[in-house]
Amino acid sequence: METLVKRPIKILRVVTDVALLQDRLAADRIRIEQVLEGLFGGRTPVAPRLESAMQHGLLGGGKRLRPILVYAAGRALGAETDALDSPAAAVELIHAYSLVHDDLPSMDDDDLRRGRPTVHKAFDEATAILAGDALQTLAFDMLARHEHPRTGAMIRVLAEASGRDGMAAGQALDLGAVGGQPNVESLVDMHRHKTGALIRAAVRLGALMAVPETDARMAALDRYAAAIGLAFQIHDDVLDVTGDTATLGKTSGADAAREKPTYPALLGLEASRDKASGLLNEALDALAPLGENGPPLAELARYMIERDH
Ligand code: IPE
Ligand code: IPE
Ligand code: MG
Ligand code: MG
Ligand code: MG
Repeated sequence: METLVKRPIKILRVVTDVALLQDRLAADRIRIEQVLEGLFGGRTPVAPRLESAMQHGLLGGGKRLRPILVYAAGRALGAETDALDSPAAAVELIHAYSLVHDDLPSMDDDDLRRGRPTVHKAFDEATAILAGDALQTLAFDMLARHEHPRTGAMIRVLAEASGRDGMAAGQALDLGAVGGQPNVESLVDMHRHKTGALIRAAVRLGALMAVPETDARMAALDRYAAAIGLAFQIHDDVLDVTGDTATLGKTSGADAAREKPTYPALLGLEASRDKASGLLNEALDALAPLGENGPPLAELARYMIERDH
């Protein structure tokens, strides 16, 4: 494992400058903010309160990691940045919808998200449900309007990742396991669905703008995405224990208070951290076939499991 870890790190240090990579990631974040804000300009809303709730759920915070992954994966295989805006926005719209619903009283019952009141607190529960619904349909609208030979494939990838075989299924498994004692296999299965599926879809959507699904580099990127997708949720579980509310922008300790099924609850903090760094190593190793196009994705993977919020 040691040698597998070191190879991409060496490429990163020799070929590129980490600060440059970070500038690139920051530029992508600014770019996606503008794309998302643009979704609300130049129209007269039919239901202004619903529209405001959608903006509350989508804008004003968030690390935007999934869109940044779309950009990084797409560019790694040669896609133009302009062509990546629609899939990047689509995946963030699904993510935002999933958070609005995840926070509802009938799900995780959280009052704070991204340092602000959750949508059902700032508005009301029915409006939060509708805002989530409308964010979700807007995601598919973004993809459907994007004229590209792979539009159909992209819609399918996002639908599978977010629906009954993806995020929604994972959320159902999560809720079904509250208060219980899942084993590691079922916890992994739940995390891979509720969080991993959308992260994998982000990488695949970016790559699909550049190469067909049969390209060998797709498989390498999918290995990378599967590893960071699981590591990301494990780290989210760890942060719920170790982070403070102000830094997290969401209430720390909420998982334990609600007897949520998490990695630290099942295996303890240290084993959870070890698992996340083992997965990071797997992700870095998977990038080897991408050669000098791997470092931005390596940098992102590292950030995803070293972040403090
Ligand atoms: C939080 O996701 C929900 C999980 C799937 C763990 P993020 O940590 O990406 O949340 P934001 O978008 O940055 O707020
Ligand atoms: C959320 O997982 C996964 C989603 C599909 C939204 P969590 O419930 O752990 O996310 P946070 O901690 O509320 O952001
Ligand atoms: Mg949840
Ligand atoms: Mg939650
Ligand atoms: Mg969490």
